[in-house]
Amino acid sequence: MNVRQLLDERLGEAFGRVTKEWAPALVSPASRPEYGDYQANGAMAVAKRLKTNPRKLAEDVVGASDLTGIVAETEIAGPGFINLTLSQEFLKGTLARAQLVTPAAKPERIVIDYSSPNLAKSLHVGHLRSTVIGDATARTLELLGHTLYRQNHIGDWGTPFGMLVAYLEGQDQSSNDLGDFDHFYALASERFENDPAFAETARKFVVDLQSGKEAALTQWKQFIELSSSHMQRIYDQLNISLNPDHTRGESAYNNDLAQVVTDLDQAGLLSLSDGAKCVFLKEFTGKEGKPLPMLVQKSDGGYLYHTTDLAALRYRHKVLNADRILYFTDGRQNLHFRMLFAVAHASEFVPKSTKLEHHPFGKLLDSTGRPFRSRDGSTIPLAQLVEQAHERARAVVRSKSSNLDEIEFDEVVHAIAIGAIKYADLSKNRLNDYTFDWDSMLAFEGNTAPYLQYAFARIQSLFARGNFDPESYRKDITLENQNERELAVQICRFQETLELVGREAMPHHLCAYLYELTSRFMRFYETCPVLDAPEKDRESRLALCVHTAKTLETGLDCLGIATLTRM
Ligand code: ARG
Repeated sequence: MNVRQLLDERLGEAFGRVTKEWAPALVSPASRPEYGDYQANGAMAVAKRLKTNPRKLAEDVVGASDLTGIVAETEIAGPGFINLTLSQEFLKGTLARAQLVTPAAKPERIVIDYSSPNLAKSLHVGHLRSTVIGDATARTLELLGHTLYRQNHIGDWGTPFGMLVAYLEGQDQSSNDLGDFDHFYALASERFENDPAFAETARKFVVDLQSGKEAALTQWKQFIELSSSHMQRIYDQLNISLNPDHTRGESAYNNDLAQVVTDLDQAGLLSLSDGAKCVFLKEFTGKEGKPLPMLVQKSDGGYLYHTTDLAALRYRHKVLNADRILYFTDGRQNLHFRMLFAVAHASEFVPKSTKLEHHPFGKLLDSTGRPFRSRDGSTIPLAQLVEQAHERARAVVRSKSSNLDEIEFDEVVHAIAIGAIKYADLSKNRLNDYTFDWDSMLAFEGNTAPYLQYAFARIQSLFARGNFDPESYRKDITLENQNERELAVQICRFQETLELVGREAMPHHLCAYLYELTSRFMRFYETCPVLDAPEKDRESRLALCVHTAKTLETGLDCLGIATLTRM
């Protein structure tokens, strides 16, 4: 159990004993050191309901609570806050535990649908947020002991592929690695617009593909492989944990679509509207209360995005046996997912006990508040963004670091470049729009990846200077100095932070945590000598450094960001 939960539970029991009914203690980390380490706000709300004095209630609750071995000091503050200061024994005991992270008591089977680009276009900045945020959430949940099924629901089916494959056909195959995929796409569309014979070939190809003609399928597969390998190269560069085994694109569900429609009909949910098959649910209405349909089959027989997603949901429930399914897309798909989940439940394709969650995110903007695009208004390919990040990181590292050899220099540049891009995105509340800004993401001060990476490298160089093996740190530590103590408290909050990220799919909590950890470490480091301290303090402080480094490394790993031993 994490510290926050433990306090919540102990105080919650005391609330129960005092008020004879269940009442939440509402414990959260204290916002200032004067308020102790944690603060419980429950007394105010409960007192209001029971019409008693909140301060008196808070006092009675503290009197009735069993916090021995956990809390050293309690204080009633203001209108009835309960301020809690953790005891030395508790902090030491928590730090002495061998395991940095406690796995979930009830591990779940979790499906995460993220990245999921349409392969008819190259990966561009529009795919960055889903990829980066989804990946950090997946890694965090995995660390907490859950079984993860990453699902890259790529768009690999539909009319654009006719055009692309037809174009690829006419090309010199050997020279085509789709390195410049956007250029390729632009050329193909241009030809499609201007060359009627080509457009006809492309259309015929789509028909062949949809009717399952062998030759067309083979060509399409070749194309998907080519463009998947382009996608994989970018994932590898960005240190994204997706691999080809996680790909299960729209085409994987082709054979299930007719059945989905039949089963919706069986469930009595299907209606006809202008020849198209759709589902109306009373909770979805548009303008003037007009019912809003979810279209599953067009009048020409073609299926839609919704239909494929219903089939995918069935697969995730029936085959993957998911307890929880998370989707990461931008906020514009809100309605799609609300309808999808409602229809999946109404049709009993998926039981209510399976948690279905859409985790949307805001837009990516440039410094003028417009959508982040290149000068000519086109989207920026991710490959190009990664290249730019390296260029900028090179300049920063050159100005900050000396005495790195060539190999080290490239390693540092790569880790900083990728870390900066990812962290800048991850550290913001995903629900808001986010402004892309090279200078702030590459800064060595503030809530940035380089700041955290630098702190980690600094600890490593301290170990090296002291000829200290971090595996042999002392288990029992002393926390006499205030800065030592605050650092220890923050280290003990790692578990609750990871659980919060896992629950809400909000990695910015972890970033805020790591930033606070690093800031506390820096204060400790500036005020408490480590290598030059007397023997007893030295061992204990080195142990605190070990805990900090492990926590930083594990936390950054959850974000998919590399640490460095030298910078
Ligand atoms: N391919 C879609 C797009 O680029 C995102 C897919 C999200 N996942 C899903 N199961 N619908 O917008």
